[in-house]
Amino acid sequence: MSTLALIGCQWGDEGKGKVVDNFARKADVVVRFQGGNNAGHTLVVEGEQIILHLIPSGILQPEKLCIIANGVVIDPKVLCEEIDLLRSKGYFPDDRLLRISDRAHLILPYHRAIDLGSEKKKGKGKIGTTGRGIGPCYSDKSARVGIRFSDLTEPNTLKEKLRKVLEEKNLYLTRVLELDAIEPEPVIEEFLGYSEHLSQYCENTSLLLNQLIKEGKKVLFEGAQGTMLDLDHGTYPYVTSSNTVAGAVCVGAGIGPRLIDRIVGISKAYTTRVGGGPFPTELKDELGDKLRQQGGEYGATTGRPRRCGWLDLVQLKYAVRLNGLTDLVITKLDVLRGINPLKVCVGYRYKGELLKDFPARVEIVEELEPVYQEFSGWEEDISLAQKFSDLPSNAQDYLKMIQDYLEVPLMAISVGKEREQIILLKEPF
Ligand code: GDP
Ligand code: IMO
Ligand code: MG
Repeated sequence: MSTLALIGCQWGDEGKGKVVDNFARKADVVVRFQGGNNAGHTLVVEGEQIILHLIPSGILQPEKLCIIANGVVIDPKVLCEEIDLLRSKGYFPDDRLLRISDRAHLILPYHRAIDLGSEKKKGKGKIGTTGRGIGPCYSDKSARVGIRFSDLTEPNTLKEKLRKVLEEKNLYLTRVLELDAIEPEPVIEEFLGYSEHLSQYCENTSLLLNQLIKEGKKVLFEGAQGTMLDLDHGTYPYVTSSNTVAGAVCVGAGIGPRLIDRIVGISKAYTTRVGGGPFPTELKDELGDKLRQQGGEYGATTGRPRRCGWLDLVQLKYAVRLNGLTDLVITKLDVLRGINPLKVCVGYRYKGELLKDFPARVEIVEELEPVYQEFSGWEEDISLAQKFSDLPSNAQDYLKMIQDYLEVPLMAISVGKEREQIILLKEPF
């Protein structure tokens, strides 16, 4: 048995796409198990950048089976666009390489409208969602009124369900959000088109995955978002609408907990966050701008500038515990070049008290004063480093300090955007 889950440990955008693309060389199967096209996973191969929102980041490696499992919410329009994009670049030659769960829920036009409409209504207190309809789609799943991927395979039932649900959604759109109603017929026509195009990918992916694992295939589970955006454990309500922690792999892919061998956490060498909500180590000064500029910190899905700040070890320790990490990947170490001294948060002060764990209430998180420890930086370009010993000693010390504080061994260090710009300390499989 050989399975590995790669889980974002911060507020998303840790470089999951890049690392999955690299690790996928050694895998047979890559699986998305939660989230939707709120995710933006960037892959760079020989200078060419591709951003994936739904299809697992193993798709650029030849012959990998890619699975979108039951926990994902799927916007069929975005899926079709992504398939077309990959095909236009010569990837994804065989339809059999993509399998989509019959139980995954579909994002419909009213989900997008409700997402945008309710954010607008919230005004200043908005969450800063990606506007992709993720929250409303997961809400419908919980309310048991969702439409699932398998419904695409039954056009008559699909039509009926769409008509019925649109009646109710239109009441909400017009009376509560004061938006225009959505005409049912064009939506039905659009979705019948998806039914024709996408039904071929529909499968019981839990059954398939369990079989593949039993056969000894190497399976890589690709997390989306990050631990601090987890619906239960993140900075609620400034979170996404799915569980993003390692436990979600089982529910979201339909496998038992004993089938996960390694749980690898991924973190940047500093911290970023996009959207609203508290961020204790945020730098609102020129240093924050410098990190944004050096790190190219603009959202891969929405293009919004990402908020930047120091590495937060208290927050990461919380992620270690919630995910039960076995290994750690640090990305974007190259971005810290020329920043001296480097600061790292090792505690929070709140009303005179020193906190060592992440509080539940955002009102408290907003008021935390980070306690920093300083480290010496480095001036060298590390983007070509291939071994740990290629790194300047201050960079080595920075990494060792992270590893020691978190008590999780390093598996890899990413030093650039390109697929091959990674120092592997341990083989993922
Ligand atoms: P994801 O959502 O976790 O897959 O991350 P994103 O793709 O949204 O954001 C990560 C950004 O950092 C992308 O632009 C990547 O190309 C880039 N990136 C990933 N790893 C590295 C790295 O080690 N160094 C640098 N400079 N950029 C990186
Ligand atoms: P990847 O997989 C960073 C954030 C949004 C917003 C909050 C809720 O690329 O790391 P949503 O649209 O999910 O309801 O928005 O979550 N968010 C992300 N931030 N990376 C992501 O994904 C994100 N997906 C959602 O900015 O603050
Ligand atoms: Mg991203």
